[in-house]
Amino acid sequence: MGRVALVTGGTRGIGAAISKALQAAGYSVAASYAGNDEAAAKFTEETGIKTYKWNVGDYEDSKAGIARVEADLGPVEVVVANAGITRDAPFHKMTPQQWQEVVDTNLTGVFNTVHPVWPGMRDRGFGRVIVISSINGQKGQFGQTNYAATKAGDLGIVRSLAQEGAAKGITANAICPGYIATEMVMAVPEKVREAIIGMIPAGRLGEADEIARCVTFLAADDASFINGSTISANGAQFFA
Ligand code: CAA
Repeated sequence: MGRVALVTGGTRGIGAAISKALQAAGYSVAASYAGNDEAAAKFTEETGIKTYKWNVGDYEDSKAGIARVEADLGPVEVVVANAGITRDAPFHKMTPQQWQEVVDTNLTGVFNTVHPVWPGMRDRGFGRVIVISSINGQKGQFGQTNYAATKAGDLGIVRSLAQEGAAKGITANAICPGYIATEMVMAVPEKVREAIIGMIPAGRLGEADEIARCVTFLAADDASFINGSTISANGAQFFA
């Protein structure tokens, strides 16, 4: 079997495409999910990829979940922190709860996902940390002060981990997808979505597979000198 890869939020949307691409590239893949049992069961049925349920916003839950993955598959060598949520509202209407839920999942969730596997990566002298950030962490977005703050914070995590892990054979990189044709983007009001597509020079939404290919590239052993980088995949919508 190939290296063990964990993808959080790996049963739907961009995460599902990442899980499948890593499986096709020979990795032994575990996909975590937060709550949608039906989607997870369907995903396993279709792909044979094992799924695990935990809340990335909870440290102890994450640690226990990752321990289950490692007991089944072996030490996690590639971790893809992909799980993310939106709670969009203009700032004047945003509630503390909307703020906190997004921080817990998108920012603290990255800590909770990487921290349990980090010591093992250091001991073994190999690791790949890949964090799915967002174009909106780079440029900000009307209605997303919470989300943009967390996705910008994710870039800070990656750039710091890159420096800490480099001497131990660990790389940490981020991918900033633009607007991708997933449920998350489809939840944006249609009129707003059409306006956004009008701002994408490619003239279309991205495909989840176009993000998954970035992940397999960064996960490979021979991507060893790419560390602390951000790959923007957004159809030329924004240059950071
Ligand atoms: N720029 C400037 N003004 C905007 C605007 C924008 N992008 N979007 C809305 N507005 C304005 C409207 O024109 C309207 O103005 P008026 O009141 O003068 O008519 C006002 O804001 C609307 O205000 P409301 O109080 O009615 O806002 P609302 O409560 O209906 O919420 C919103 C609006 C939640 C921000 C909604 O516009 C929205 O969902 N926008 C999309 C945000 C977005 O892009 N989310 C990305 C989701 S996908 C994702 O996150 C994945 C990824 O990584 C890319």
